[in-house]
Amino acid sequence: MGHVPLKVKKAVFPVAGLGTRFLPATKVLPKEMLILGSKPLIQHAYEEARAAGIEEFVFVSSRDKSLIESHFRPHSALHQTLTERHKTAELASLQDSTADEGRISVVYQDEPLGLGHAVWCAREAIGNEPFAVILPDDVVIGSPCLAQMIKAYEEVGGNLVAVENVPRAETCKYGVLDIEHDGGRLISVRGLVEKPEPAQAPSTLTIIGRYILQPEVFDHLSSAVKGVGGEIQLTDSLAKLIGVQPFHGFRFEGKRYDCGNSIGLLKANVAYAMNDNAAVGPLAEFLRDALNSNTASQQYSRAL
Ligand code: G1P
Repeated sequence: MGHVPLKVKKAVFPVAGLGTRFLPATKVLPKEMLILGSKPLIQHAYEEARAAGIEEFVFVSSRDKSLIESHFRPHSALHQTLTERHKTAELASLQDSTADEGRISVVYQDEPLGLGHAVWCAREAIGNEPFAVILPDDVVIGSPCLAQMIKAYEEVGGNLVAVENVPRAETCKYGVLDIEHDGGRLISVRGLVEKPEPAQAPSTLTIIGRYILQPEVFDHLSSAVKGVGGEIQLTDSLAKLIGVQPFHGFRFEGKRYDCGNSIGLLKANVAYAMNDNAAVGPLAEFLRDALNSNTASQQYSRAL
């Protein structure tokens, strides 16, 4: 019998970022509260984690983003009004955004020192067990990503990062894999580089915001070495685990959308609505008309 890896019960959600790519929308509103379908991004991330069997949710936040945790607290006045009015469907939807007492904890990242530092801020809440990391502005539509990763993790254990292929010109926006063996769904890795220039990138296979990690990563994060952009990069500490523990890239099913900028969020909203039986017909009709509505869009439409 093979060794059964420890169950992943906790997830970290780094949500302290300033959301500068989405100003002015994010001047007051946390970017994680922007809407995809009828839910804020953070709720999509929370539900994805819950569906993957996660029981404890650790938000690494900043002190002026308390709206995020408020979203998951019971709202007794609203609950009472809806009950009095027999609004069953609305009550059910409220239920999905209410976390059980004690399941969500918040730790603060008081300085924007990078993703590696954000994850390190969660070390006491995580303790000595494997954990997931979800970046809520990376949204996967089509098939829940973390649940797929947990399945793969049960086979191979160790550390897993979700990956996708990007155009070479975009490697400078992501953590990039140096591939040892590409097995299709699982990729064994020789190294990782954060945000390499296209000419220097070891491949075009990049990390998206889903990770399953072993607690040993905290040992490396604690040295707080700054990497590219002067930030403490999670990728640099992950690279140190390669060869010491199992480490795999994981090609997920579904499509990833970068919801940290307005065009990405708009695309995600369209893709999301396309999976909704009630919305797909009217939306497809609208998009056809929109494509024919002016000369610029007609040009694109003809080229398709
Ligand atoms: C972070 C990680 C990067 C990863 C990306 C996925 O970068 O540092 O390795 O590829 O998330 O979205 P950021 O987008 O925070 O610059």
